Amino acid sequence: MIASLVNLTDYPLDQPDSGQYRSLVDSLGRQLAETGLINIPNFLTLNAIEKFNNEINERMPQAFYSEHGPSSYFDAYPGELPYDILNSTSYCMGRDKLLNTEMDTLYHWEPIRRFIAGITGNERVYLHEDPSNALIVQMYKAGCEIGWHFDGALFASIINLSRPTAGGVFECVPDLRSEEDPGYGEVREVLEGRSTRVQKYYMEAGSLTLMLGRYTFHRVTSIEQEKPRISLVLTYELRPGVHLDGAARKRIFGPSAPREPVL
Ligand SMILES: [Fe+2]
Repeated sequence: MIASLVNLTDYPLDQPDSGQYRSLVDSLGRQLAETGLINIPNFLTLNAIEKFNNEINERMPQAFYSEHGPSSYFDAYPGELPYDILNSTSYCMGRDKLLNTEMDTLYHWEPIRRFIAGITGNERVYLHEDPSNALIVQMYKAGCEIGWHFDGALFASIINLSRPTAGGVFECVPDLRSEEDPGYGEVREVLEGRSTRVQKYYMEAGSLTLMLGRYTFHRVTSIEQEKPRISLVLTYELRPGVHLDGAARKRIFGPSAPREPVL
C-alpha cells in the first residue's frame, strides 16, 4: 500500500488537483531551478524506511562491487587529473534484483512520476527501460566513495535511506557547466580545493533529493564507518525507450546483468 510508504500528509501526491499539491510543486520547482538541488525531508514514512532497508538487507549478498575511474567528461579535460578524487567505488543492485519489492512498487507509482515531472518542469517523465538501471540500490561501505562527476541525465531522483555520521557527505556545485561551456576553469578550482561554491549536504533517511545532475558537479565523500550509506536511485526519462549501453551496464551491475527486459 503506497499510503503507508509516502508521507501523504505533507506531500499529497494522491491529490494533484488540490491547492496544497499545486503550491508545493510550484515552490519546489522554483527552488530546483534556482539552486540545482533540493532535498525534500520526511518524504517516506518511518514504515517505508524500515521496509526498504529490510528488503535491501535480505538481498545484500547479490550486490555487485563496482569500481571505475574518471567519467568521460574528463576525456577532454585540459590538465592533470587527481585520480584519487575522481575514482568511484560502491555496491550496486539493479532493478532485476529488486522485483516484487515495495521499492519497485514506489518506482512504478504514477503519482510520484507526475510529482517529479511537475517539479522538473516537464509535461511527463517516463520509466527508464533498462532492466537494471531503472531502479538502483547504491551501497557505500567503509572506504567506498563516488568521485567528482557530472551525470549524463538532466536530473536525478534519489531517496536517502540512511544518514552516515562519519564521511559519506554529499558535496556539489550547482550550475557549473552548460551545454555550451564545459566549465573547466571552475572544475579545476573544485578539484584543487580552492572553490568557495562547494555545498555540503547531510541527507537524512527518508528524504527525497532531486538534482539537475547534468550541470551540477557532485560527489560522495569516502565512508568512514562500518554501517553502509544506502540510497535508492529512481531513474526517469524525458522520452520512452531509454536503455544503458552494454559496457556501462556490465561495469555498474556486473557481467551477469540481464540485457532483456524483466517484468
Ligand atoms: Fe551522479
